[in-house]
Amino acid sequence: MGIKHFIAVAAAALLALAASAEGVSPRIIIPQVKSYTLSEGSIVLEKGAAFSISATDAKEDLSGFKAYLETCDLSLIPAAKGGPKPVVRFKIGPKALKNAPKDAYSMVIGRKDISICAAEISGAFYAVQSLIKMTAASPGRRLACCRIDDAPRFSHRGLMFDVVRHFHGKDFILKQLDAMALLGMNKLHFHLTDNEAWRLDLECAPEMVRKAAFGDSKWFNTIFPGRPLTLADAPEGYVPGSVYDDGAIYGGYYSKDDIREIIAYAAARNIDVIPEIELPGHNLALLHVHPEFFCDGEHMVPDVFCAGKEAPFVFFEKVLEEVMDLFPSRYIHIGGDEASKDNWSVCSRCAERMHSEGLKDVFELQSYCIRRMEKLINAHGKRLIGWDEILEGGLSGNATVMSWRGTAGGVKAISMAHDVIMSPNTYYYLDYGQDAPYKEPLAFRTYLPLDVVYGYEPEADIEALYGGELSQETRARILGVQGNLWSECVVSDSHFEYMLYPRAFAIAETGWSPKGSKDYETFRENAIILSRIFNEKGITTFDLTGEAGERREARNEISRITRSAKAVMRTGNGKETDASVLVDGYLGGWALKGSDLWVKIPKSEITIDVDLGSAMDIHYIGAEFADHNARRCRAPQDTEFTTSVDGINYVPAQVPQLRIDESSTSFAIRTAGGTVSTRARYIRLRFNLGSEKVNTYISEVIVN
Ligand code: ACM
Ligand code: ZN
Repeated sequence: MGIKHFIAVAAAALLALAASAEGVSPRIIIPQVKSYTLSEGSIVLEKGAAFSISATDAKEDLSGFKAYLETCDLSLIPAAKGGPKPVVRFKIGPKALKNAPKDAYSMVIGRKDISICAAEISGAFYAVQSLIKMTAASPGRRLACCRIDDAPRFSHRGLMFDVVRHFHGKDFILKQLDAMALLGMNKLHFHLTDNEAWRLDLECAPEMVRKAAFGDSKWFNTIFPGRPLTLADAPEGYVPGSVYDDGAIYGGYYSKDDIREIIAYAAARNIDVIPEIELPGHNLALLHVHPEFFCDGEHMVPDVFCAGKEAPFVFFEKVLEEVMDLFPSRYIHIGGDEASKDNWSVCSRCAERMHSEGLKDVFELQSYCIRRMEKLINAHGKRLIGWDEILEGGLSGNATVMSWRGTAGGVKAISMAHDVIMSPNTYYYLDYGQDAPYKEPLAFRTYLPLDVVYGYEPEADIEALYGGELSQETRARILGVQGNLWSECVVSDSHFEYMLYPRAFAIAETGWSPKGSKDYETFRENAIILSRIFNEKGITTFDLTGEAGERREARNEISRITRSAKAVMRTGNGKETDASVLVDGYLGGWALKGSDLWVKIPKSEITIDVDLGSAMDIHYIGAEFADHNARRCRAPQDTEFTTSVDGINYVPAQVPQLRIDESSTSFAIRTAGGTVSTRARYIRLRFNLGSEKVNTYISEVIVN
């Protein structure tokens, strides 16, 4: 039996176990519930069962929730006099579940009926999500009798959708909102503007979608080396909210009505939609339409507006006013990331602004941009979120920091008494590949598999800073967690879902389930079951049962004779560093960044000297490099190996050169190497990347 088949059979057996005569238990739920106690017996929850709601002290309007119950997967119908007795009985209101945190519920599944208590509709809503998952997991819709007490760990359990690099239509977004609700996720961060397009039609700036929502290209745009941004006017007959693609022109945008529909649909599923309007950088599309917003003169950086001019501020203030009117969200995201300071450093108007505002450098100028927007946002009773660069140059007020460059920004923001949302690229960037790159579609980076995503503990780095348990106040500053799906490489709706699921399951469980309750083996089994449920709903998922996993050569020692070897690396400027990791006997894994098996090589002439400790017979010499042209990472074409017995006299080793296909954009691992027949103690490798634009990674100097 092949491993894939074995896993599929094992998963089926597991499901059969979970759905035994006693019914499916809460154990299969993602995210894991806070606590449950099984009891004797089971109940079959048929589609179309009757429900009742008693809500004597509820302050909320229940009509939306009742309508949801009828249309959701359970298709519940309101109990009527003379009709069938209610099977699902809700009690909603502060007295139904006293002292309950937001979104909490308790549920008793009995042999005859199911009782759900919640202080607010949102809690009852999540009880329904649990029932939907449990009934879908059981072929006979049979549920084990039990009591569940459940409440989320964090208030922010989010996903960010980048609909700029590749556009996704309104209906697709609605479909994802249902999926998010099922996972207990409650924040959709909507990335609506960026370099490649502007996706929101506003009355104050109608020219933006007319001129910057369509282009001739479907992929990678500005990231791909040398590729110019090409935008086209909106095509005749375009229907807002849909993806337009006639083979030559591609793109789309949302009308305000589309957005209102998305917000209402999300609200019915306890999800807030947080808009992101990027500034001051990531604005190539804006500057295409409004070149007058640039710094005057030559532009080293094409995507940052002039912070010395008033016009771009007036533009964004109007945009944000209209956005705040449209989106009820308490939080507004203004980006703030990756804004180069190069133009500002030489612009006389920017210099004037710094002088008149008493700003000491361009970092404080960035901070000026953010504070100015924050003032406006606060004046509307709302709060600003920005990427962690908003900490540079000082951050005042009550801004919330979204930590993306690893966890450092979040840790720093907490130490400065700001609220944080943890979405570190090291764990939660869902545009990174999730399995061996040879079997995956092109991804922005390798390699972020499910177990790594699941393994992230949002309090860990902050606890390290404070040297142990966090105070209640500090813990409360961690609002929650969020997965980000950037879409440079994500070209279609199904590809988008494929990148999201099941990794979003892992983020959902971290965001919801109690600290310390996670168990990867159980989670993975449950994720296979939930993936099947998603597939039945027409949602594409990565197939966990076919996961190849980490590179085998990174897990098995490939050379023993280098066990006591030492290596040093010298760059062109004479800097010498220990490079013993290059002779540790292990090749690199799929992940380059953050891996201790790969060494990033600077753009320079490089010499690596290996000392085996004593002279020995050698029959193979090689070196392994990463090659990913689309990420400006190249393996060197010219490698020179020499060997020596005494460390003074070196002789060439006849090892073939690499042949690199310059047009290849995919990720590859390449080895320059070959058989030799020699005796040596010292091996020297030299190469030069030979271009200003690229760097490379090396995992090993292989000697056998
Ligand atoms: C980001 O990934 N630039 C927030
Ligand atoms: Zn300027």
